[in-house]
Amino acid sequence: MRPTFILAALSFAFLAAADGSTAQLDWNTITPSRVLQYHECYDGFKCARLEVPLDWANGSDNRTAVIAIAKLPAVVSDDDPTFGGSIFTNPGGPGGSGISYIQRAARNMQNFLDKPGRRHYELVSWDPRGIGHTTPSSDCFHSNTVSRNAWLLEERGNGGLEKGIDAIKHGLSMTKALSQHCKDQGDAMAYVNTPSVARDMVHMVDKIDELRQKESTIKVHGELKKRTKDVVGRLQYIGFSYGTVLGNYFAALYPGRVGRMVLDGVVNVDDYAHGPGWLSSLDDTDEILEQFWQGCHEAGPSVCALASASDASASGPKGRFWSWVAQLDDNPLPVVTSKGFMVIVTGNDIRKFVGVALYDPILFFKPLANTLHQAMAGNTTSLITSMMSFDLIPDLDNVCSAKHNPTILPEARSAVLCGDGDDLTHKDAAWWHKYVQQLMGKSQLFGSYWSIIRFSCSSWPFLPNLSFKGPFKSPIAVPSLAAGHPAAPLLFLSNRLDPVTPLKSARAMASNHPGAALVVQESMGHCTISTAPSQCTKKIVADYLEHGTVPSGETVCGTQCGPWDENCSGYPTASSKSTGEPFPEGSFPSWMFPLGV
Ligand SMILES: *[C@@H]1O[C@H](CO)[C@@H](O)[C@H](O)[C@H]1NC(C)=O
Ligand SMILES: *[C@@H]1O[C@H](CO)[C@@H](O)[C@H](O)[C@H]1NC(C)=O
Ligand SMILES: *[C@@H]1O[C@H](CO)[C@@H](O)[C@H](O)[C@H]1NC(C)=O
Ligand SMILES: *[C@@H]1O[C@H](CO)[C@@H](O)[C@H](O)[C@H]1NC(C)=O
Ligand SMILES: *[C@@H]1O[C@H](CO)[C@@H](O)[C@H](O)[C@H]1NC(C)=O
Repeated sequence: MRPTFILAALSFAFLAAADGSTAQLDWNTITPSRVLQYHECYDGFKCARLEVPLDWANGSDNRTAVIAIAKLPAVVSDDDPTFGGSIFTNPGGPGGSGISYIQRAARNMQNFLDKPGRRHYELVSWDPRGIGHTTPSSDCFHSNTVSRNAWLLEERGNGGLEKGIDAIKHGLSMTKALSQHCKDQGDAMAYVNTPSVARDMVHMVDKIDELRQKESTIKVHGELKKRTKDVVGRLQYIGFSYGTVLGNYFAALYPGRVGRMVLDGVVNVDDYAHGPGWLSSLDDTDEILEQFWQGCHEAGPSVCALASASDASASGPKGRFWSWVAQLDDNPLPVVTSKGFMVIVTGNDIRKFVGVALYDPILFFKPLANTLHQAMAGNTTSLITSMMSFDLIPDLDNVCSAKHNPTILPEARSAVLCGDGDDLTHKDAAWWHKYVQQLMGKSQLFGSYWSIIRFSCSSWPFLPNLSFKGPFKSPIAVPSLAAGHPAAPLLFLSNRLDPVTPLKSARAMASNHPGAALVVQESMGHCTISTAPSQCTKKIVADYLEHGTVPSGETVCGTQCGPWDENCSGYPTASSKSTGEPFPEGSFPSWMFPLGV
């Protein structure tokens, strides 16, 4: 099934590779090692391949996984008094590549987290098991892009699961075939779920300490500075979206290894690990769409192409949109592209497309309005291009090139989330029909699309060795350091309205960790620090990293600008490039794009 959560990120990852700024690295030229060894890579980064046991639970199993790691060094040296250690980050997914993420995001993230002259961090990310440059790989298609795209087109032809029981039955068989295909390739995918990844993180923390100790022994003759000593053995981490799931597993399993933990765009991990799953994601999705209509109407036709001077209220553009979508539900639109490809645009396509745009209102609202306006007037050029860049349809111009694989492989995503969640094999079509209806009840816009996440588990054949079902709690923080206790309380961040990780989830998760703080940022979109500029959030995060202190309880942070403003400082205003164009190709999201959940 299609990658979902990170959709908004896909086009950018794709562009990062295409724009030539990130020199490619052949990871095969790095010999895997048990001791951490960095090599120069990607223009200012350092990369390593670290060998770990494939099965952490079985000491007599000598198979290994090899983890691809990349870091952006701090702007000061490791023995500088302002050096603040390593901050690990995970961009979400599940299935998102930390390696491609850090290449495009790390410099901006470093600017965000550093306190110039006071505190400087190196940023570390990695491809978790089953993903990207890490082995084992989860690519059941073996880089055969034609075969993958043929599969995706059949799925597309089947239509969304909201079409009813027939589409669900066909989808169940497709899922079964893919699961069988993956199973034929061995059992490595049984070892890629979150508890194994959390264990890898402990190992990476230790290996980084070991290397730093060795290097500092050379530099300062064995005397580790007190400040550095404080953080030895402790993880400093910022996780986005699914990265908050990973953080929650880590804090629950290894509370004594938590140094600092910032969780932004918070998933309800109980819903993730138990029951049907993924039912708590869409509480606020349709409300963001309402805000889109309201903002569009108030901004007027000079800013929002869907507005009309004759509209008395937001129900003007909203009504025109939904009647157009209803028409497409009835009569899908046949499109022949300028290059001669045929695409049938359905109402379901439009709902998905708009849902993805809700991930980043500042970046997408204005171009979304333009693109829809043109498509409603009969010009689908921008719509088709944008759908391809969002990965909603295969990139038909490049159907044979492995470079144009989706950024998150659907099977890699399934390997993680199906392994973590309850077993849903043996659920019949009627059960799934009910599940789809339930999600559509949450969000008219995104519910059907969202249901394919768990649907991909309907035949998932791997039962993971390492499994963890909670409780997702941690003991009280002890800043003076005590075994088994975090060094600082957890810091949670949430937008007021988030399309896939609602504020409600952040509140529920924060309440499980004593002393945890929650920052509610007055903005919309998926995750806070990538979707709107806020000096308030920035200060809280930087102070937390430096001192381990959090504001008490829940704090509200304002932002410097919103989606319809002319001038969103520090954020590339898509509007400046997008008038009449496809979604803003050249403009990168602020500085990073937390993927999906
Ligand atoms: C542990 O690994 C060994 C060697 O691969 C295997 O023979 C054994 O069955 C495994 N034990 C368990 C409990 O999986
Ligand atoms: C792994 O263990 C098996 C026996 O369980 C042995 O045959 C094999 O040589 C070992 N491989 C390595 C690389 O040590
Ligand atoms: C359709 O829109 C594209 C850009 O979105 C534009 O380049 C093209 O000229 C338009 N076609 C027509 C017939 O207006
Ligand atoms: C570990 O996973 C493998 C592959 O799924 C399985 O054969 C083995 O029995 C598992 N071991 C345990 C202890 O669950
Ligand atoms: C737009 O932003 C720039 C740079 O932040 C600032 O100098 C300028 O005054 C802003 N313009 C408006 C209209 O806010």
